[in-house]
Amino acid sequence: MAGAPKLGFSSFSAPAKGVLVVFTDAGLGFGPATKKLLAPTGDLVSRAAEADGFKGKNGNTLDLIAPQGLKVSRLIVIGTGKASELKAEDFVKLGGTAFGRIPKSADEVTLIGELPGGPMTAEQVADVALGSLMRAYSFDRYKTKRKDDDGAPKQRKLTIGTDDADKARKIWSHREAVADGVVIARDLVNEPSNVLYPEEFARRAATLKKVGVDVEILDEKALTKLKMNALLGVGQGSERESRVVIMRWNGGKKGEKPLAFIGKGVCFDTGGISIKPAAGMEDMKGDMAGAACVVGLMHALAARKAKVNVVGAIGLVENMPDGNAQRPGDIVTSMSGQTIEIINTDAEGRLVLADVLWYVAKTYKPEFMVDLATLTGAIIVSLGTEYAGLFSNNDKLAERLVEAGQYTGERVWRMPLGPEYDKQIDSKFADMKNTGGRMGGSITAAQFLQRFVDKTPWAHLDIAGTGMGSPQTDINKSWGSGFGVRLLDRLVADNYEK
Ligand code: BES
Ligand code: MN
Ligand code: ZN
Repeated sequence: MAGAPKLGFSSFSAPAKGVLVVFTDAGLGFGPATKKLLAPTGDLVSRAAEADGFKGKNGNTLDLIAPQGLKVSRLIVIGTGKASELKAEDFVKLGGTAFGRIPKSADEVTLIGELPGGPMTAEQVADVALGSLMRAYSFDRYKTKRKDDDGAPKQRKLTIGTDDADKARKIWSHREAVADGVVIARDLVNEPSNVLYPEEFARRAATLKKVGVDVEILDEKALTKLKMNALLGVGQGSERESRVVIMRWNGGKKGEKPLAFIGKGVCFDTGGISIKPAAGMEDMKGDMAGAACVVGLMHALAARKAKVNVVGAIGLVENMPDGNAQRPGDIVTSMSGQTIEIINTDAEGRLVLADVLWYVAKTYKPEFMVDLATLTGAIIVSLGTEYAGLFSNNDKLAERLVEAGQYTGERVWRMPLGPEYDKQIDSKFADMKNTGGRMGGSITAAQFLQRFVDKTPWAHLDIAGTGMGSPQTDINKSWGSGFGVRLLDRLVADNYEK
């Protein structure tokens, strides 16, 4: 990853150069180790704080260049507000805030993992590190001009001071797996569609073999044999072949039912014959954010050796309008045997997921299925870019997802399902149609999916607003956010690994 610092942990000690980052609270206090480090500066910090109106509010920073008495070139003081009220997500954010303040030219950064009340725990230190790395991410592999002349060092070093470096390293080895998973997802979402088409996506998913994931790639011949005609119908207007990738991580007990995660992987969505308007169509390179999240999640779970059996399944297609493309009015028979009348070829994600959900439900009989999809523009109208839409046939699973969302800050908001909505997708000619009209568009899309999950406990996350082009936050400056990796890793860790 470009911009990513090399991370290390050490005991508290004064750095001889680079940038020093310390934390303070609403009372402008410092922990004992920080106090000792800052002793040579005398009253510098309090005078600067006074001059700048800095009161240690959460997320506020005080920036001191060439601080008298220290060898470092810059001292950054970060406010935490009331330190006793900080939650896990806040430490991740503080890491992001810290890294956001560090100038590009800095090659060494030392961050003191201490609050006024004493040293941060190993978990808190790891969360700060996670936030720093998330913030440092940038997708610049196609920038040929910037690399040499912007004054940025080739490799930055981030050292976090802590009272228990061994423990921090141990906890970090788990967090690092998650951080890498987020980076994998972001890279996939940011990658343009001329580079990342279904076959190439499948090849990249196959690199998970390195961390012990079993990867099976189903090509069009195999998909035809399986009768995945809903999925194949979407891909038939593209020069690029479709693929389904099944990833398996077996870290749990033998024979224990797997958890299943399913992703929409439309590598580019033109809308097909129901073609989209030109403005903003370039964003549809990210219409595979659901699949990207599943790959990132599988990496995270395998790399941290999660004690659980998991299946990841992604449907990879390109929705294009050529002479062989699917038409409005066409009727396809899905793998489940249910027939679908195509009303709008731009409602393609649900067609892809229909076959993959059915396949996973029948083949693996999972404990639950969670699918992620940039499914509808309507969910952006409903929830903006702050929450993903959550639809579920199972209250327990839905509650757990909401909780994991609150913990990680990757929040989800539950939306309704019901027979009244389901009726909207009944078709004159087939068992169902692929759109339910303008009203409640995200809900009718979810109703469509529900017709392919049978009795399996299932949740659908509509991430159209959160997976790409989502707000720039303390821990994300990337277009592709990697949304869902931290959320689902937490869902698994908190509820299924005991
Ligand atoms: N991939 C889009 C949804 C989307 C829109 C994702 C904007 C991210 C940003 C999806 O395939 C789509 O085109 N949905 C249609 C459905 C409609 C035709 C029923 C939509 O939302 O307009
Ligand atoms: Mn579409
Ligand atoms: Zn789409």
